[in-house]
Amino acid sequence: CCPLFYDEGYVRLGSAKGVYARNYVRFYERIRDFQVHSDDIWVASFPKCGTTWTQEMVWCIVNDLDFEGAKVGLQKRFPYFELRANWSPNLTKMITQTVLEGSKSEGQPNENEDNENSDSNREFFLNSFNLVENLSRPRFVKTHLHYSLLPEALKNENSPKMIYVARNPKDACTSFYHHSCLLDGYSGSLEDFVDAFTSDNVFCAPFWTHLREFWEVRDRKNVLFIKYEDMKKDLPSIIRQTAEFVGKSLTDEQVKILEKHLSFESMKNNPSVNYEDIVGNMRKMHGTAHDSKFMRKGKVGSWKDEMTPEMVAKLDAWIAENNIDGLYES
Ligand code: A3P
Repeated sequence: CCPLFYDEGYVRLGSAKGVYARNYVRFYERIRDFQVHSDDIWVASFPKCGTTWTQEMVWCIVNDLDFEGAKVGLQKRFPYFELRANWSPNLTKMITQTVLEGSKSEGQPNENEDNENSDSNREFFLNSFNLVENLSRPRFVKTHLHYSLLPEALKNENSPKMIYVARNPKDACTSFYHHSCLLDGYSGSLEDFVDAFTSDNVFCAPFWTHLREFWEVRDRKNVLFIKYEDMKKDLPSIIRQTAEFVGKSLTDEQVKILEKHLSFESMKNNPSVNYEDIVGNMRKMHGTAHDSKFMRKGKVGSWKDEMTPEMVAKLDAWIAENNIDGLYES
């Protein structure tokens, strides 16, 4: 149905080559034809590039700093659009048995779960398209899809607003490695992960295609392109830029209050954004013992603490070969 999903050279979603891609094919039409609203706000990113941070910033700005409302889990306020398409039938079965129903269930994955009257955990894990469809407006939606794989209705000048956050590949890779150990049952070394990352064999790869596709549409009036590094350097400026983009004006005092709410320390200790319950569920499912947290270091350059000169050389060569308009230096 869609060459992009089938063409291994174009998009290989998942470390188990092609497995995720095959899952996406099952949901291709649902994604392509998904109806959007003019007041939707989408946050897009390659995984581990500051998605959660950007989501919380955007939600708080659009909701006039409603910190009481922000106590609701981010996954409910700002769900992950294509999460349903990330699970293979086997993973669906594992999630159903381990996370949703405990070890009692012996059942097969239910491919018609869209018709079920779901509880909120089930909605989050298995019915993400329905969850987004039925959100009250304005809807806030997170996605890791490549631009070319997004719903068609998101791809013109009059589409809803979309904020893309980019991060330097060495930090993204390091963060992704820890995320994979923590949440996806990955048990390889960082060295192996660097190999996988630079050969486009990680979930949502290729990194550079992801970045390039959003970079190319960055000047559209409905798109705002920001960088993790700029958020670290001068968060108030990015808050103001984002506020202007979504049509809100904030006083200096409000910017200060929001800056504090969005600080790493604050978000690390904020249960509504640090995904503790989801991390717990995924660890249970994979039997993971990896000692880390979703909010891990929150730094620019944390790759320096862990990568060997060989790994750095590999990433540097890859960056030099692929870099887009000098966006990220080796
Ligand atoms: P590290 O693993 O390098 O610490 P995503 O939300 O896209 O999965 O990105 C997660 C990364 O963003 C993690 O990076 C996480 O610590 C970092 N992050 C989340 N909130 C942050 C904040 N308030 N300030 C700085 N970094 C933050």
